[in-house]
Amino acid sequence: MTANLGPTPATDPHPRGAAIGDGGGSRDVVVVDGLTKTFPGPPPVTALHPCQFTIRAGEYVAITGASGSGKTTLLSLLGLLDTPTAGRYVLDGVDVADLDDTTRSALRARRIGFVFQAFHLVGYRTVIDNIALGLLYQGIPTRERRARARAAADQVGLGHRRHARCSTLSGGEKQRVAIARTLVRNPSLVLCDEPTGNLDTATTRQILNLLDQLHHTGLTIVVITHDPTIAAAAQRHLTITDGHLSEIRREHATTL
Ligand SMILES: Nc1ncnc2c1ncn2[C@@H]1O[C@H](COP(=O)(O)OP(=O)(O)O)[C@@H](O)[C@H]1O
Ligand SMILES: [Mg+2]
Repeated sequence: MTANLGPTPATDPHPRGAAIGDGGGSRDVVVVDGLTKTFPGPPPVTALHPCQFTIRAGEYVAITGASGSGKTTLLSLLGLLDTPTAGRYVLDGVDVADLDDTTRSALRARRIGFVFQAFHLVGYRTVIDNIALGLLYQGIPTRERRARARAAADQVGLGHRRHARCSTLSGGEKQRVAIARTLVRNPSLVLCDEPTGNLDTATTRQILNLLDQLHHTGLTIVVITHDPTIAAAAQRHLTITDGHLSEIRREHATTL
């Protein structure tokens, strides 16, 4: 059973790449309807039971849940890294169900940014180089790549460190580079999987401040976390228990 949560109707298709600073809240970036994932096993495991929700442009959503509850499964579906067993997923106006692998990969590369707990940087290369790598396969000339990388470094507060090798950076600075590498591509949706999992409390606060600033520029952000501080910082809070997704609204949880 799915429960219809949203006041939000299904979207019309939208022009490509109008993600950041589009006014926020005016369109749906994610529309999920009956989305389900069962791993065949044996024994089969339904890691995500049918759920229905919408994420509007500019929203900042935290998804929490215990280990094994289905967080990575949901993130993989939203990030087009895996395909659902059933249900509909419309990303930025595109129904992804019928896409072939190549189109799907292109859509993922163009519209989705990932930020992981492990920063996945090239340590011996500079901040600018690592950020510019985010644009490598988009046919953008080197000069423009570097200009955009410089702007993204400034945006995450690393302009003064842009020629530093990433191996010399602190954990918080590395995560800023990883975030900038995502931003430089102007994604429609940024998916963060435990982005502060490797960071101490003070640095976690700085990264949360950065996510908050980016949220205020209109970026659409989904953070998966077990950290209640992060969930509290986000604008919306979804939680997943044994594959069942709910939305936490003040004191109440609503089944999705
Ligand atoms: N490839 C897979 N094959 C079979 N079961 C899986 C697979 N991936 C995840 N699962 C199961 O699905 C459930 C949810 O996993 P996951 O989404 O990784 O949880 P979380 O990220 O919240 O820790 C778990 O019971 C897990 O064992
Ligand atoms: Mg996980």
